[in-house]
Amino acid sequence: MKKSVMTAFAVAGLSLAAAYKPEKWNLDAREKFAAQRFGVFIHWGIYANYAQGEWYLQQGKLDEKAYSRMMYGFCPSKFDAKEWVRVFKRAGAKYVTITSRHHDGFSLWPTRVDDGYNIALTPFRRDILGELSKACDEAGLQLNFYYSLMDWHRKDYPAGKCASVVLGNQKGDYASYKKFMLAQIAELIDNYHPGNIWFDGEWEHAGYSNGKWNRSLDWDFDTIYDFIHSKKTLVANNNHQPIRDKEDIQLFERDLPGDNSDAGFSVNQPVARDRPVEQCDVIQNNVWGYRIGENRFRSADDVVAMLARAAANDANLLMNIGPDGSGMLPAKAVEVMEKVGEWMDKNGESIYGTSAGRIGLGKDIVSTRRGNVLYLHFLKPGVEKFAFKLSGEIESAACLASGEKAGVERTPSGDVVVSISREKGCKFDKVVKIVVR
Ligand code: GLC
Repeated sequence: MKKSVMTAFAVAGLSLAAAYKPEKWNLDAREKFAAQRFGVFIHWGIYANYAQGEWYLQQGKLDEKAYSRMMYGFCPSKFDAKEWVRVFKRAGAKYVTITSRHHDGFSLWPTRVDDGYNIALTPFRRDILGELSKACDEAGLQLNFYYSLMDWHRKDYPAGKCASVVLGNQKGDYASYKKFMLAQIAELIDNYHPGNIWFDGEWEHAGYSNGKWNRSLDWDFDTIYDFIHSKKTLVANNNHQPIRDKEDIQLFERDLPGDNSDAGFSVNQPVARDRPVEQCDVIQNNVWGYRIGENRFRSADDVVAMLARAAANDANLLMNIGPDGSGMLPAKAVEVMEKVGEWMDKNGESIYGTSAGRIGLGKDIVSTRRGNVLYLHFLKPGVEKFAFKLSGEIESAACLASGEKAGVERTPSGDVVVSISREKGCKFDKVVKIVVR
């Protein structure tokens, strides 16, 4: 009897010791991150010179050695970190997440721990992450780093289903590869102080079938995450699967959290309601790294609607831009971001620091809230009226951008009907600010 009680204690003690409890710095950083609501994602590397998107090496079935020689032709003479940051800030973004190293394995900073596949050995030589970090600091934007777990270049990387297209069935040496990653991550954090490390590529070693995840590699995330946490930096992982204890931010790739519409990405991914959530998406059609000739870009209206839907889902939006090989942001993207900024100037109050409003139709009408203020977003042209249940009385209701009064009625059944008029042609009047008593 005594023995079994002891065992129960020991087991309880063990699981207690294993449970992860985020420290205060961590909880504060999560909260700060979530309040920012809008970030710009940058996918950039030597693939920008090929101008065929960031998967060109793998999808084009190129010879890796031939591909990697492009580093000697990477000299983005128009790169101007301050100009980039001006565009991001103008758009209303509060943070930037850039690919420090994407799947092709090329590093955008002068890392000392790789085999010479980084910016320092290109004719450009300048420290791109360093310059961006300085410009972000000066402008008050937070910088974060995307970091690819998958690698299409190194000999010690154990190739999974995607990397093997480039590397063949290379067995690699994960202990050595992990050591390399940790050394690079230490450089990134110590030199540039990012808010988070944003992992990607775990999925190449995982598949979902018969209701469970099957993995072909143990990444030892405990060690990696503990290391990052020991440096007071947050962890995010774009793994398309349920969140782990030590992950601070949950990521959704090209899918509104909870929508689970995008088969292959977040289709099996439940939303972690106890962690900040971020949805990432593309501004240039279907591609993250720059693709020449792809002229379909999202409109500002589209980006604004995505921002509102994300915020209404308690999520941040990370909108991606792929700069070209000259170092410039595509002109169309700049134009769109400028317009998003004009909207944010007038309506940002309904996005930053808000939480889900829990009133709306899901897509065309959504809401955010802060305290007793509800922001109702009318996202579909032509839809100008919405009836809903509200406990409490409406003190005031007005369009946020113009201040124009919104119509408020009560139906006999007690619903509140709020209506706007776009007759005046004010396209910014999509948000009604409702103060509830
Ligand atoms: C995917 C792609 C990658 C891109 C990422 C951004 O996982 O592999 O190219 O960086 O999505 O979310």
